[in-house]
Parts: sequence; C-alpha cells; structure tokens
Amino acid sequence: MISINHEKCRRCLLCVEVCPNQRFMKSDLGLIESKLERVHLCLECGQCMAVCPTCSVKAGALSYEKDFFELSNSESSDKTFDELVQSRRSVRNFKNQPVPKEILDEIVEAISFAPPSFPPHRTELIVINDTNFIRRTLPRMVENYKELLKMMKNPIMRRIIKKKIGQPKFLTLKNHLIPLLTVKMPEMEKGNEDAITRGAPALILFLTEKNKEDNSQNISIAATYGMLKIHSLGLGGAIMDIIPPAINRDPELRKMYCIPDTHEIVTSLTVGYPRIKYRLGIKRDLKSVKYI
Ligand SMILES: Cc1cc2nc3c(=O)[nH]c(=O)nc-3n(C[C@H](O)[C@H](O)[C@H](O)COP(=O)(O)O)c2cc1C
Repeated sequence: MISINHEKCRRCLLCVEVCPNQRFMKSDLGLIESKLERVHLCLECGQCMAVCPTCSVKAGALSYEKDFFELSNSESSDKTFDELVQSRRSVRNFKNQPVPKEILDEIVEAISFAPPSFPPHRTELIVINDTNFIRRTLPRMVENYKELLKMMKNPIMRRIIKKKIGQPKFLTLKNHLIPLLTVKMPEMEKGNEDAITRGAPALILFLTEKNKEDNSQNISIAATYGMLKIHSLGLGGAIMDIIPPAINRDPELRKMYCIPDTHEIVTSLTVGYPRIKYRLGIKRDLKSVKYI
C-alpha cells in the first residue's frame, strides 16, 4: 500500500516521476494519489520516499525512521567506498543529455577490472551511445513482450517456456515480469511508457558465447562494477534484465544490435545523467545473516 500525507505534500510530482512502475498520479483535485490498478506493482524500492522533500509518502512497510538515512549533499566524485555503495540507486529518469564517449570508455575500463572466475574474460560488450537508435528499436521490443504475454496465456506454451528456461527463471517471469507487463502493455503499445529502456541515452549490453561454460556470474559481477563506476562519475543507470530477452529472440533486433548468431545478451546496463536527486539513502536487511 502507498499513502500520501496530503497536508505535508507539496505536489512537486517527484514521486510520480521517479516510481519505476508509475504508481502515482495527480488527481483531478490536484492531489497526488496512488493508481489502484497498479497497487500490486509496488516493489517497495523506496524511491518515492527517498526523493520526497517533505517525507509525505509511505510505501508498504517502509518507514522514514527505520529504513532511510540522510545522504550527504556533496557532489564530490571522491566518495569513499561506503558513501558510494550507500548512495547508489537505480536511475530510470534521465536528462536529455548524451554521454561523452570518454565517459563510456572509463566505464568499460572499470568493467574490465571485474574478476573473471577463470581468466581470461569471456564477457563481451556492445556499447550503444545513440539515444535515437535505442528509441527506434523500442517498439519492436514491446512487440516481443506482447508476444510473450500472449504465449504465457496458453497453458501448453507456458509449459514449453518453463521447460526451456527452467523453474527459477520461470518463477521470476511469472511472479514479476508478467504482472508488470500485463498492466503496462497498453501504455507501452501507445508509446506513452518505456518500461524497457527507460529513455536511457546510452546502453551497455553484456554478451557471452552460447553453449559454452556458464559465464553468468562473471557477467553479474562485471555489470556491478559498471554500475558502481557509473555512480562514482555522477551519472546514473541500472542493471536491466528486461532488455536482453526482448533482443535475443528477435532476428531483426539482433542484427540491428550487431549480436552474432553464436552469442546471447546476458544482461544490460543503462547509462545517463540523472534527472532526479535522491535526498535519502535506503537501508535493506539481508534475509538472514549467521556467523559460525
Ligand atoms: C539483476 C538485476 C536486474 C534488474 N533488472 C531491472 C529491470 O529489468 N528493469 C528495471 O527497471 N530495474 C531493474 N533492476 C533494478 C532493481 O529493480 C532495483 O535494483 C531494485 O528495485 C532496488 O532499487 P535500487 O537499485 O534503486 O536500490 C534490476 C536489478 C538487478 C540487480
């Protein structure tokens, strides 16, 4: 559940903008309200609470007292490791500003420092620094997800998909992606919502060769290095697992993104200049921690 303290709320619309699932809207009365049809899409990521200048939002069980802390106002790029990891958020709102090639080179260099389980690296990158190109490919990605939604409604196709991707990936698909796409698809089809590339000006695709030794953990670590480097440079972005399936299965998109037949995209990282500043950081408890 999401609630808004209407007396404190200044209607700055930051929560409306920042919510990854567009859970908020401005009502006819000018008040910020929660969209009822999207109630179940709240991730409790706390981004709405972290940007609110008057602490007027409450998302699920999160509380300002227990789960958040003040972030320093400093724009310094000399952050300590703790400052860096504690202030990082997934950025999905970008300024209309291209990312210079030299900045992307720095991010690529940081990624190259990630440890491979068995050197040398088997991770390959494709860096797209053309926002218009990304926007052009979006309608096809949306089409591919529309197709997937259709297949998931068919019990036989559902069973085939489950067999192909395995139970853990199928559960993520069924429990997270399908509910999200079901609600968002009408707006995505109209081009009113981009829940896939999030309007990012630049994108890094992490590729590996198919049918070789598993490289997915290496890629997760490499993407994490990239994500932290992006944040350390004052830029923003997020690891985006929603992008690879939209490209991998589509011959035309594979060609456009120069994916060799022998390869598949494992994950992706968006890059851009953040449009919204977070006032608060969020603390998250791990599911369990035991010392032996
Ligand atoms: C492996 C992985 C995959 C993710 N995929 C997506 C994605 O496809 N789309 C998206 O909007 N966010 C994606 N995220 C971002 C998460 O939603 C985000 O990390 C989470 O809500 C916590 O919020 P924070 O990163 O702002 O702290 C992904 C994050 C990880 C670690």
